Formats: sequence, C-alpha cells, structure tokens
Amino acid sequence: MAPERTSGDLRTAGIGRGWPVPVFVDGKEVQAFEGETVLAVLWASGDHTLHTTARTHEPRGFFCGIGVCFDCLVTIDGIVNLRACLEPVRSGMKIKRQQDPGYTHAR
Ligand code: FES
Repeated sequence: MAPERTSGDLRTAGIGRGWPVPVFVDGKEVQAFEGETVLAVLWASGDHTLHTTARTHEPRGFFCGIGVCFDCLVTIDGIVNLRACLEPVRSGMKIKRQQDPGYTHAR
C-alpha cells in the first residue's frame, strides 16, 4: 500500500504515492516519491527553472512533458542534457539545473 501524502507541496491530494526517497537538487536534499519523474520532483519543489539558455541565459521550464521538445534538460549524476520528463527518480540521485547546454549528448 502506498503511503499517504506527507507534506503540503504541490502534488495532487488523494492520489497514492510511491515510497518516499531522497534526491539531491543542486546539493539540497529533496523528498521525492518512487514512480515520479525528475520533472515532477522539480516542478513540485516550486522552482520552475530547469535550465538556462546558453546564449541569453533565459530560464526554461518544460513544454511537452513527453520527451519531444528538450526544454527540460538537466544534469543527473554527472550526465548532462538528460530530459527531466523521462527520467524516473532513484534514491540518492544528484540532479543539477544546467546553466549551459552541457558538453555531451543526451542518451
Ligand atoms: S518537457 Fe519536452 S522533452 Fe521534456
């Protein structure tokens, strides 16, 4: 049985969640739940800037949420340019908001 909602965050009330797992966003521990994407965790945290553009340093959020637009690029466990909307959270993963386009290609 999934645990009940544990805090007053932006997640929808009344929907069962997976077990809580810790992840680290820009070095700060954040509560996530098994089954969520990295995008869901970042969006629920309230800071909607996932990365900034290389040339004009404009903040970017997400657009499609299904892996098509590449607007949600983040660095996860040292791998740059991963789409936050496609990556399921794992306990202890280290997520960084990108300040540039990264140096390798997304997988
Ligand atoms: S939001 Fe479009 S690829 Fe992730």
